[in-house]
Amino acid sequence: MTAHPETTPGPNGLNSDLPFDLVIRNGRIVADGQVVDGDLAVRGECIAAIGPELGPAVRDIDAAGRWVLPGGIDSHCHIEQLSGMGVMGADDFHSATVSAAFGGTTTVIPFAAQHRGNALPDVLRDYAARAAEKAVIDYGFHVILANPDAQTLATDLPAAIRAGITSIKVYMTYDRMKLDDYQLLDVLALAREEQALVMIHAENNDMIKWLAQRLIERGHSAPRFHAVAHDPLAEAEATNRAIAMSRLLDVPILIVHVAGGETVELIRHAQKLGAQVLAESCPQYLFLKAEDLDRPGMEGAKFCCSPPPRDEASQEAIWQGLLDGTLATYSSDHAPYRFDETGKLPKGDLTTFKDMANGVPGLELRLPLLFSEGFLKGRMDIHQFVALTAGNHARLYGLAPRKGMLAVGADADIAIWNAERQTVIRAADLHDRVGYTPYEGRTIQGWPEVVINRGRIVVSDGALQVARGSGRYLPRSAPSHAGLMAPRSDAAVRRQGTVLKALLGIG
Ligand code: URP
Ligand code: ZN
Ligand code: ZN
Repeated sequence: MTAHPETTPGPNGLNSDLPFDLVIRNGRIVADGQVVDGDLAVRGECIAAIGPELGPAVRDIDAAGRWVLPGGIDSHCHIEQLSGMGVMGADDFHSATVSAAFGGTTTVIPFAAQHRGNALPDVLRDYAARAAEKAVIDYGFHVILANPDAQTLATDLPAAIRAGITSIKVYMTYDRMKLDDYQLLDVLALAREEQALVMIHAENNDMIKWLAQRLIERGHSAPRFHAVAHDPLAEAEATNRAIAMSRLLDVPILIVHVAGGETVELIRHAQKLGAQVLAESCPQYLFLKAEDLDRPGMEGAKFCCSPPPRDEASQEAIWQGLLDGTLATYSSDHAPYRFDETGKLPKGDLTTFKDMANGVPGLELRLPLLFSEGFLKGRMDIHQFVALTAGNHARLYGLAPRKGMLAVGADADIAIWNAERQTVIRAADLHDRVGYTPYEGRTIQGWPEVVINRGRIVVSDGALQVARGSGRYLPRSAPSHAGLMAPRSDAAVRRQGTVLKALLGIG
């Protein structure tokens, strides 16, 4: 498909008199829960009309035989960020957002990461400046909170939330990032007050450290032992504890990057009890396994992320969780580290699993993998695909109704998919700076060939069409969980009301 300018003159010969700036014609449009065969028109930055045979435009795109979907929203990605282990990611805001765009994503919500000793306002200024100069698609931020001191909790974090950074990620693991349970309760109470969403990396730090120490002492340092140290029980235990804290304070939480089947079960059970628990998963937990870490030499480091990919039963549980709504979003957790001494292998071949940077790339392949293996292989319908990759992210992170759906008045964030196109995945063809992909050599079907953000054609004809820094910052509203969580049970509401009134004077 080509996107080409078609300068049909208007009645007086001026293009500006034409009613639409762009019309995508003859597509299969997924518009707010319906499939519409017809046209989608853009005026300025927004969708102006959806219907049959729309009028003339400055520019036409022929989408016959193509799916016209909302651009993806990736609500969990690490861009130009220092990791919990102190390693700088390989992608900056330019390479990461270009890579995202080539994979059909039009909005990213990466993290502005506060490390110990950092003042939050300095962190936010720094990330804002770097992203504004480089991003090619729209972006918001979450805060990563590792320094919950009095100034941060009383002043800086509330100010950030009120200014549109309405979600906070906290860690229950990593020595340099983790909050203890007392601190976590402080953050949850604040989030309740300020209507922010707390995203929780739930792994039991001491279980992992204890296992890792013993593995290393016995000479078990190869990449595959990362998956042994990060036992599924460490994930399940911390998730259970986070759920209990959320229930205690009656505040929504979102468990990020769910990997294990038991964790899915715990979340489903909590949701049935009426707890306000949401969750996400990622491609690595559908398409990779712990056994991938057992490749020859250091190769397994390319599959190392936390929590690690698990077994086939867990993959199946993640699919089920995504399909039945237990898991609300599907994000990349793009954490880009090169396969060299700057990232995965700080000590070359002597690197132990404890030294390897944690994380895998995924911004560009997140949607194509799910489109191919989820939608085209019949595991999910197109509406589920759209909800998991765009719509639910927009609602949950305060970007709806402007983002995440094709509807009149919404931003014209659109991906036009060729469902026939087959691609053999090669790192060399991707646009990030990681240099490898854990999905190397796989064949997938379907690719987003034209990608549009706020009416601007960002990718077409296999090339980037927009300038560095042309993405726009998105301050976000309060998260909305409507329709993403079962209504809370009367018993849960009554119990929490009693606890909160008695102890805190709130309810
Ligand atoms: O291994 C991972 N997921 N690295 C990225 C940082 C995080 O914890 O999300
Ligand atoms: Zn995490
Ligand atoms: Zn992450």
